Amino acid sequence: MRKHIVAGNWKMNKTFSEADDLLNDIMEKLESTTLDKNTQLIVCPPFPFLEMTSDDSDDSYFLVGAQNVSDQEVGAYTGEVSAAMLESLEIDYCIVGHSERRAYYHETDEIVARKVDQLLKHNLKPIVCCGEVLEEREAGKQCEVVRKQIEEGLFHLTEEQFSNVIIAYEPVWAIGTGKTATPDQAQEMHAFIRSLIAGKYGDAVAEETSILYGGSCKPSNAKELFANKDVDGGLIGGASLKAEDFIDIATAF
Ligand code: 13P
Repeated sequence: MRKHIVAGNWKMNKTFSEADDLLNDIMEKLESTTLDKNTQLIVCPPFPFLEMTSDDSDDSYFLVGAQNVSDQEVGAYTGEVSAAMLESLEIDYCIVGHSERRAYYHETDEIVARKVDQLLKHNLKPIVCCGEVLEEREAGKQCEVVRKQIEEGLFHLTEEQFSNVIIAYEPVWAIGTGKTATPDQAQEMHAFIRSLIAGKYGDAVAEETSILYGGSCKPSNAKELFANKDVDGGLIGGASLKAEDFIDIATAF
């Protein structure tokens, strides 16, 4: 059975002490919560807080992800953070191709593909984001857009490499807007993405790939989104900044 995953993308929020408070709140909440055994919780703080978030004990409540990584291996790339650095901190996951990075930092599918390669080379699991903007959905082009993002960002991988990839469908018009995709819209796109994977890597790989939904996911709508057969969890922005909301979402399966 493929994993259910709830990942919190803190984006560029929190100072050091605020991050510390949020982590303590999450741990406290988790101590009195029983998560389904098949649910993996992931926290993705900004780079400076990765080390304080990571816990290499076997019984840690959650795993840790970064929000970005360089597409280069090492060297004179001021301001960049390499996959090797993340690996040396024992970080498990990394978000790639988030729509904010595509829109504000010109991250193309080609760059996404190189970042994915770097992550896999250094034993991190990429959480690869895809999704259409509002005009594309209104023009009925959402499948075409997502197909291109998935094919160009991921389909150069071998089957073995691909089995480490997590996909997050995040319709851009639903991110931070309070406007969520309907459960039917989410299911339709997730099933489409799974069919693309099946076409390239076969049914067994497609069945094992976790496909997360992201975009204004909150405690009040998580249950109906996660009830869909092809929705395997969520990539949570705003609601992951409040421990109670984040854990409520994680228990919504
Ligand atoms: P919101 O949950 O704030 O809409 O953000 C979703 C997102 O972009 C997660 O990566």
